[in-house]
Amino acid sequence: MYQGILKHYQNKCFHEAPNTIVTLCEGNTPLIRATQLEKMLPGVNVYLKFEGLNPTGSFKDRGMTYAVSEALMSGAKAILCASTGNTSASAAAYAAKAGIKCFVIIPNGKIASGKLAQAIAYGAEILTIDGNFDDALKLVKDICEKEPIVMVNSLNPYRLLGQQSAAFEICDALKKAPTHVCLPVGNAGNVTAYGMGFQKYYDEGLIQRRPKLFGYQAALAAPIVDGHVVENPETVATAIRIGNPASWHRAIEAVNLSEGRFDKIPDEDILKAHQMLSAKEGIFAEPASCISIAGLFKAFQEGHIKAGDEVVCVLTGNGLKDIDSVMGLPFLKTHSFEALKEKIKEALHD
Ligand code: F0G
Repeated sequence: MYQGILKHYQNKCFHEAPNTIVTLCEGNTPLIRATQLEKMLPGVNVYLKFEGLNPTGSFKDRGMTYAVSEALMSGAKAILCASTGNTSASAAAYAAKAGIKCFVIIPNGKIASGKLAQAIAYGAEILTIDGNFDDALKLVKDICEKEPIVMVNSLNPYRLLGQQSAAFEICDALKKAPTHVCLPVGNAGNVTAYGMGFQKYYDEGLIQRRPKLFGYQAALAAPIVDGHVVENPETVATAIRIGNPASWHRAIEAVNLSEGRFDKIPDEDILKAHQMLSAKEGIFAEPASCISIAGLFKAFQEGHIKAGDEVVCVLTGNGLKDIDSVMGLPFLKTHSFEALKEKIKEALHD
């Protein structure tokens, strides 16, 4: 039987209560060589860890299998989370699989429609609030203090333990550590989990160096980069529209230890990277994920990434979750039949 991410851990479910393992066969996502992007970054080796190919379309599944398995083993009847979309989709799916209830609190109107559709389809009980993610997380913490419901936000330690597995897979695929890992930062759990994962492999002597972690926030939702809470975060990358990340300090520790850096990227550049990634590499990722591509290009221009480096960009979520961010863009091209025939001629005779 496939035992998913939990096979990496000496955890109780795996060894003592295997019937409580809740898995949808998450993880084992491909590390794709970005051959077209490399042409624009002379000498840099670029790989894309496409987490959008997880069962619910995002990296959240890596932590959710662990958190929900532990919840089931402890006899929990329900789980609860705040979310910008992906956590709620993942939590709802794993709760369905486990046969327990899932409750989610999300910011009204700021969730990509595909993610909301998933939470609905998987049968979650949904509360939308007129606040942002940070307000939703406060409500979740408040409920968890009073009720025996299991919180599955990344403050749940099993979430980050599970998410470390992406770092293991990258090293296993490359047979060494890359020099850099670029990734989006929202609630700052994932960058912390990558730091933990690389550290574990380093401690075990499986890799000789820890990659530099480069974490990216959207320009108007960049509390860590700006050094203060952002009351009204705004970005087209709704997944990372967060002004007061829960794992703020742990993320800074992880990034500093790796000798990496945080930076912020304007929405315009996130959307350009989105377009470039789809049109050049044939990979459709959601806007928040594409910030890692925009970040790579910025870091290359500024000399933080150079020829000879081996960079992994983490594409955290699938583009199909958020098609609205594409349909309004100028690269939506349709042609008349005549114009199409002209285009074909041009393409063939170029
Ligand atoms: N990328 C995507 C697609 C996400 O959904 C998130 C977070 C991140 C990156 C950032 O990860 O929070 O660990 O720093 N989404 C959460 C959610 C907040 O509710 O789905 P982080």
